[in-house]
Amino acid sequence: MIKNICCIGAGHVGGPTMAVIAEKCPDINVILVDNNKDKIDAWNGDLNNLPVYEPGLKEIVKKVRDKNLFFSYDIDNAIQKSEMIFIAVNTPTKINGEGAGMAADLKYVISCAKQIAKSAKSDKIVVEKSTLPVRTAEKVKEILINEGNKNLKFEIISNPEFLAEGTAISDLYKSDRVLIGGDNSKSGKKAVDLLVEIYKNWISEDKILRTNVWSSELSKLASNAMLAQRISSINSLSALCEKTGANIVEVSNAVGLDKRIGPEFLKSSVGFGGSCFKKDILNLVYLCKHYGLNEVADYWHSVVKINEYQKNRFSKKIIKELNNSGNNSIVLLGWSFKKDTNDSRESASIDIACELLNAGIHIIIYDPMVSDDRIFQDLSMKKVNVKSKKIKVVNSLTNALKLSNTVAILTEWDEFKDYKWENNFKIFDGRNILSLTQCYYSIGRSYEN
Ligand code: UDX
Ligand code: ADP
Repeated sequence: MIKNICCIGAGHVGGPTMAVIAEKCPDINVILVDNNKDKIDAWNGDLNNLPVYEPGLKEIVKKVRDKNLFFSYDIDNAIQKSEMIFIAVNTPTKINGEGAGMAADLKYVISCAKQIAKSAKSDKIVVEKSTLPVRTAEKVKEILINEGNKNLKFEIISNPEFLAEGTAISDLYKSDRVLIGGDNSKSGKKAVDLLVEIYKNWISEDKILRTNVWSSELSKLASNAMLAQRISSINSLSALCEKTGANIVEVSNAVGLDKRIGPEFLKSSVGFGGSCFKKDILNLVYLCKHYGLNEVADYWHSVVKINEYQKNRFSKKIIKELNNSGNNSIVLLGWSFKKDTNDSRESASIDIACELLNAGIHIIIYDPMVSDDRIFQDLSMKKVNVKSKKIKVVNSLTNALKLSNTVAILTEWDEFKDYKWENNFKIFDGRNILSLTQCYYSIGRSYEN
């Protein structure tokens, strides 16, 4: 039985996952560590200002914090105390070197492996939670064996996270499946069994799948690629709807009622965002190219290309209309990549804001959860001059709407859906949350005649 676990990386994956493990397994001591001291202080601070916003998360943290869930930046101590160590650090797309712009950057995972090797004084089971390219476990094992104490045993298992932001807690409570990939050796099987025991506290055993390590790693990339492919498929058809007069909501509904297809992930939108989809698909593309599978690489790459096309199509509609009307400002509603999260990584809003700014348009941004700092940081990463008078970030919907009567809905927050819209607003609905009569333009529902 495992009694002490730690998780390196207290972000959107590590935070909710460890909170749920601590809640469901009161006999296990859980330490969540991060090398970002401010983040750890925030996890230990005001429950209304935790670094990750997820419905239901603060209630769990309130219940288990300082009982069997601890937040710390003493990573070495946490490693030494734990029999099982989860790695949940970020794996962004590489910026420099071989595979730049495509492959996943493993530097954070590698630095965790090095730190475990350096600090461990007893045998450890290392669990890969971060989404990783196939065969990363091999690299992690190599580091542990080469750099760690030769008398110690290290087992590496893969246990990818399938939670979606905004619904992380309910996804963790009721996972469709838990995937655990391990070695076929006796000790590999034992490590998998120990992790299965943890999950069995709240997940029924028939939903816990055991696979080999590589299947587990690839299943994560494949799941995200297939989900994103559904969105790009429906988004590509939204453009055809606008040419023909078909309505994408009706098409999506009709298609999704076929049991073999199903209704989920067929909502046409301004484009998918989030930290996973683009990165994981590009990673898959890179892997396919590496193995000489160029046709396969092109197939998956097109999912990302359609997503870029969809964002660009939306910006162009706005620019064209503003140019025609002589108006040059617009309110952008929503900065997060979807509702119910404060995460804006890869949000369609970022690209659309940049395209509008490049066209000389003034933008007023409002999001109920994403901080002003984060918005400015996202824009400066795209080399936008954030001091420009063309950008305003405001703190309420009513204040935003005082500044322009042209509006683009970029995130499907309930606040925007429930607002009593008057008909003096010209609305570009990038999420199809308003009725057609309320919109000037909406995705796949506005017939271009
Ligand atoms: C995704 C996967 O769902 C999750 O299993 C994995 O672990 C991590 O990546 P996440 O990125 O948090 O989760 O959110 P998700 O709900 O998948 O949405 C991703 C993007 O697609 C969002 O921008 C969302 O608005 C968009 N989307 C989703 C659509 O445009 N249409 C849809 O029908 C569904
Ligand atoms: P994800 O969505 O994958 O959870 P986040 O960026 O939200 O990504 O969280 C990853 C966390 O991992 C960040 O808080 C970051 O500070 C932390 N991290 C990255 N590298 C290390 C490391 N070597 N040691 C400890 N923490 C790390």
